[in-house]
Amino acid sequence: MQSNITSYLSYVRRIVGQICSYFVARPETIAKILAALLSNCHVLFEDYPGLGKTLLAKIIARVIGCNFKRVQFTPDLLPADIIGTKVWVPNRGKFKLVKGPIFTNVLLADEINRAPPKTQAALLEAMEERQVTIEGRTYKLDPPFLVLATQNPIEMEGTYPLPEALLDRFGIKMSMGYPRSVEEEVEILKRRIAWKKDDPTEDVMPAVTREGFLKLQMIVEEYVYVDDCILEYIANIVRTIREDPRVLAGPSPRGAITLMKLSKAIAFMFGRTYVIPDDVLFIVREALSHRVIVKPEYAEEVSPEDIVVECVKKVPVPKVSNVR
Ligand SMILES: Nc1ncnc2c1ncn2[C@@H]1O[C@H](COP(=O)(O)OP(=O)(O)O)[C@@H](O)[C@H]1O
Ligand SMILES: [Mg+2]
Repeated sequence: MQSNITSYLSYVRRIVGQICSYFVARPETIAKILAALLSNCHVLFEDYPGLGKTLLAKIIARVIGCNFKRVQFTPDLLPADIIGTKVWVPNRGKFKLVKGPIFTNVLLADEINRAPPKTQAALLEAMEERQVTIEGRTYKLDPPFLVLATQNPIEMEGTYPLPEALLDRFGIKMSMGYPRSVEEEVEILKRRIAWKKDDPTEDVMPAVTREGFLKLQMIVEEYVYVDDCILEYIANIVRTIREDPRVLAGPSPRGAITLMKLSKAIAFMFGRTYVIPDDVLFIVREALSHRVIVKPEYAEEVSPEDIVVECVKKVPVPKVSNVR
């Protein structure tokens, strides 16, 4: 399988290359996001306004060749606006299903924390079970079903923090941050000149088809081996975080499973059919930080990210020779 896998890597390179030709970001950042999508995980982008969250989500949706819908979350958005509803058709004397925007492959839930909790919760079933229930009837969503959500940092006005149950459904939380140099800032300006418009997404060509993307997901799921020593490594990381005296609530088993799935995707993207500890380390911060709640008395001095990084350092790394 190793040689076959390498042939699929060209698709991965095409996807990352296509995204980076529009969006100015470090290839590692894009690789982490793609790892989430390849392991069928939803992505939460958290950052201040204007850092390109919406644009990046739109570009990604185009590049992976999937159907795409965007919902702008606002304080008056209702669950039915996302999921859909049944409407009475008088001349036919029956109810008709009007499907909401959730019936798509990639849903951009833009500014998700501007809608109240009830509306946010409408996403839960879809995110976890890839199905929705409308008035007692359940409808399966076509694969892939991936939510790319954006949010402004919670301390900003007019936002409702996402409940833990919903946060836990996101595979990773990514922050792109401000451009790191004048050169990067200039590059963003140059891209805008080249596009000749504010939103270039309609010009972005898919790098794979939907079927091609599903195939990549299948390879990650079925052909990347995870040795027991890696499973123990992941379990030890999660436990060490949970047992940290500064932590009120640590990552759930779902968090550990997600870290394993993400590590498999990272291994694949690095051209391997087995996971090594470096794959876990590459994505652990983005995979676990949003699942850690710091006790209020420590919240000023330490962030969830710091705790994850510190705890990971305490866990002995398994020997690489054992993992093939
Ligand atoms: N890293 C980047 N690469 C390319 N363009 C960027 C980048 N960051 C910001 N931009 C530009 O800034 C504009 C605003 O981005 P947007 O996605 O609307 O921000 P947000 O959703 O985070 O508020 C984009 O249309 C794009 O022109
Ligand atoms: Mg936006």
